[in-house]
Amino acid sequence: MKLTKILAASVALTISATSLAKAEPQAEVLHWWTSGGEAKSVAVLQKEFNARGGTWTDMPVAGGGGDAARTALRARVLSGNAPTAVQIKGLVIQEWYEEGALADISDVANEHNWGDVLPAEVARHMKCDDIWCAAPVNIHRVDWIWANAKVLAENGISMPTTWDEFNAAAKKLQAAGVIPLAHGGQAWQEATMFEAVALGVGGPEFYQKALVELDPAALTSNTMVKVFDQMRTLRGFVDDNFSGRDWNLATAMVINGEAGFQIMGDWAKGEFLAANKRPGIDFLCASVPGEGFIYNVDSFAMFKVDGRDKQEGQKLLAELIVGPSFQKAFNLNKGSIPARVDVPLDDFDQCAHLSAEDMAASAKVEALVPSYAHGMAIRSVQSGAITDVVTAHFNSDMSSADAVQMLAKAVANSL
Ligand code: BGC
Repeated sequence: MKLTKILAASVALTISATSLAKAEPQAEVLHWWTSGGEAKSVAVLQKEFNARGGTWTDMPVAGGGGDAARTALRARVLSGNAPTAVQIKGLVIQEWYEEGALADISDVANEHNWGDVLPAEVARHMKCDDIWCAAPVNIHRVDWIWANAKVLAENGISMPTTWDEFNAAAKKLQAAGVIPLAHGGQAWQEATMFEAVALGVGGPEFYQKALVELDPAALTSNTMVKVFDQMRTLRGFVDDNFSGRDWNLATAMVINGEAGFQIMGDWAKGEFLAANKRPGIDFLCASVPGEGFIYNVDSFAMFKVDGRDKQEGQKLLAELIVGPSFQKAFNLNKGSIPARVDVPLDDFDQCAHLSAEDMAASAKVEALVPSYAHGMAIRSVQSGAITDVVTAHFNSDMSSADAVQMLAKAVANSL
């Protein structure tokens, strides 16, 4: 063999030996966290990953609620080039698992005792058959009202505790020339508001029957008619330019005092905090009038990929995501509370405390319900069918009676 060939062969051997010994963790991470508060939050994970020697390739797909991200993901998987780690949650995790696309992360989960540190309600969404197939980052609450404290004080309004109070407060703001309700006219935002109203007006048992069990009697009930009535009332409180507006721009309207209220999950708190606003002073939080708690757990699933570097990246990410330091730092920015039960909430604000207390109290009386609008309760086909009706009603003069009939039909056709 010529010397050059021998040298080349030995270099190749050395390289492959080194790469065998030390695969550098790599991760291409697909997520939809692009607003101010969201970007700050996901940066915490990137920082921890890089600090542990990982190389992070960011793949943000803008669009609140994640519809655009889910479309981008499907295109990537269909072209045989799945991202390493993907922000998916709830039933969508199960759907991808059934397609054989997800990696098993049970080794990491067992090594770090996820079974002991995650509430059963959260853990059940992270398991596919008997393996761990996703890592949870948080618990978001959906059924919140956010308000600008100064706007409310100036108009002699306190945080509403009944829907009648909410409607009266909104009318008062309207008369004073303030937009009562900041809303972004996108289907997922209407669905978010609808489920909060459904829980508030109907209560947890009704919510469970209608939006989790899809019971036809609940879907067409008088209670559901009242839910649509309240949606129609809310429609009267939004400004003329609501169509297509992003949720964080709606939050900005409350931040700058253009609007009084927003009904939105606590990712909105991430926007208030990113704008240096203080809870209880600059902005107020309260659960929507009524009983119960709608949860929405964000998580990452690891897709089946080739290459030891990517697989190492997946293990490292899974470990960090459920690690106590990330769970704290991330959730302080994100507006949610940690998914782990053993992260002290001392540094968290009053809204986070309220969330944790209400969640524990609701769990005891079967009033803790999964978000249909954010994929935790039912499959995409069924949730899509409901959202189509909700948004059609909100954006037309459809009566509540027609809406419930349409709702029951749409759900029946989707089963
Ligand atoms: C996610 C949140 C996100 C929000 C707006 C929700 O579906 O769970 O993490 O901030 O959408 O994009």
